[in-house]
Amino acid sequence: KENVLSQFFIGSIDQGTTSTRFIIFDGTGQPVASHQHEFKQHYPEPGWHEHDPNELIASAEVCVSKATATFKELGHDIADIRAIGITNQRETAVVWDWETGEPLYNTIAWPDTRTKGIARDLKDKEERLGLNIAQMTGLPLSTYPSSVKLVWLLHHDEKVMEAYEAGRLAFGTVDTWLLYNFNGKDNEYFVTDTTNASRTMFMNLHTCQYDDTLLEFFGIDKTKVHLPRIVPSSDARAYGKMVGGSLGGMRITGCLGDQSAALVGQQGFSPGSAKNTYGTGCFLLYNVGEKPVVSKHGLLATVAYDFGGHRKPVYALEGSVAVAGSGVKFMMNNMGFITHSHKISELAASVDDNGGCVFVTAFSGLFAPYWIDDAKGTIFGITQHTQRGHIARATLEAVCFQTKAILDAMELDSGHKLAALAVDGGMCNSNLCMQTQANITGINVDRPAMRETTALGAAIAAGFAVDIWKEFDELKAINQKDRMIFTPDINREESAKMFKKWTRAVEMCRGWLD
Ligand code: G3P
Repeated sequence: KENVLSQFFIGSIDQGTTSTRFIIFDGTGQPVASHQHEFKQHYPEPGWHEHDPNELIASAEVCVSKATATFKELGHDIADIRAIGITNQRETAVVWDWETGEPLYNTIAWPDTRTKGIARDLKDKEERLGLNIAQMTGLPLSTYPSSVKLVWLLHHDEKVMEAYEAGRLAFGTVDTWLLYNFNGKDNEYFVTDTTNASRTMFMNLHTCQYDDTLLEFFGIDKTKVHLPRIVPSSDARAYGKMVGGSLGGMRITGCLGDQSAALVGQQGFSPGSAKNTYGTGCFLLYNVGEKPVVSKHGLLATVAYDFGGHRKPVYALEGSVAVAGSGVKFMMNNMGFITHSHKISELAASVDDNGGCVFVTAFSGLFAPYWIDDAKGTIFGITQHTQRGHIARATLEAVCFQTKAILDAMELDSGHKLAALAVDGGMCNSNLCMQTQANITGINVDRPAMRETTALGAAIAAGFAVDIWKEFDELKAINQKDRMIFTPDINREESAKMFKKWTRAVEMCRGWLD
């Protein structure tokens, strides 16, 4: 069967926060050709973070054209690509004119904190009205979801307000924007998948439909804004097809928010399985099965994946960390400590420990499990002894500490202690970081050889819709060879002491004045 599976292919477009990739996998889950393209990050004001929506599309087109060229050079035939999957940065809000398809504003990216005041006012409103928004959506009111970004746009941008009043405003997350453009700006394919919709705060987590109470709560008149139709993550018809380019005419049959895609790519299909993806941010998803579990300890409840047909949507508890790879990029681009992201490990290894430094990388406030919107990035413990290496180490440790806090919360919410943590994403290439993660959490960290699990997950969703696979069991052999296990190698007291310092640092970084 392996021979047959290596004869056909699935393409996967992974549109992340800082770069876009297109990877062509064969039926055994092996990447055959790929291309990655970084695009510009816009930070027009402190705490603001935007992208040019057209640049996101252009970056995907570059990746598709380069990777398909390589694919052909390798002697393959484009016609053997059976389907296309899409995966994307979540929450990021895009607004455009329903009739012309022109963007009305830059995207407001998920880590953007301009909505701090809106989130605070909405919390007051929730209390006044006696509502429990987290119970309905799985998400706490914060700067993170798409809803507050749309509210901001409706109050601050004239073009957006005018389009809204004229009934021409189209709102979507990045999946919707990509799908609409890939289909040649055809409003018939104005859709979003359930996982992406579950990050907007407009969708009721229990019904997987938009909820009038929620729209009203955010002050959104649904007769004035076009919201994408919510469809399953794996679907042969809903997503349309690529128009133009080297994939022209090819069907798009899978779509998942990137963290959901990584869970699928790691085959976290049974309740109790989990994965942690160290991308721009870091996101731990824990499969809880077919009923949502609303956290009491600072985690999110979200749709993990929705394969449609006879399968019910599956839910996850999620711990979201806003800064992971973006902390490393900060060390490179802003501080000039390193010349390339992967050098962070080398710099961190130039010292034996953090030298007493703790870096709370709260560039976007602090997400799970703390949810401190007004926290700012803060380094504690600097002395004359402090070297760049100590700060580099503290940057990596910050993600590991937050992951530990998330695992503790998950244990409280689920009543289960995770036995091992499956990892993926760029930062997991650092052995030092993964060893630190094992040491701080006290559990094994399990890293696959092929780490493009996000793109793989979208390919799996696409493949299911065209019957390449019919049951999850058929995927079992994928990406199991040569996994590397990091086992804790420091004693518990030592790691508890480190974590105590971190907890103290978190307490001290809140309430910074703007
Ligand atoms: O929720 C934001 C997340 O989807 C972004 O993922 O990989 O770009 O950090 P990433």
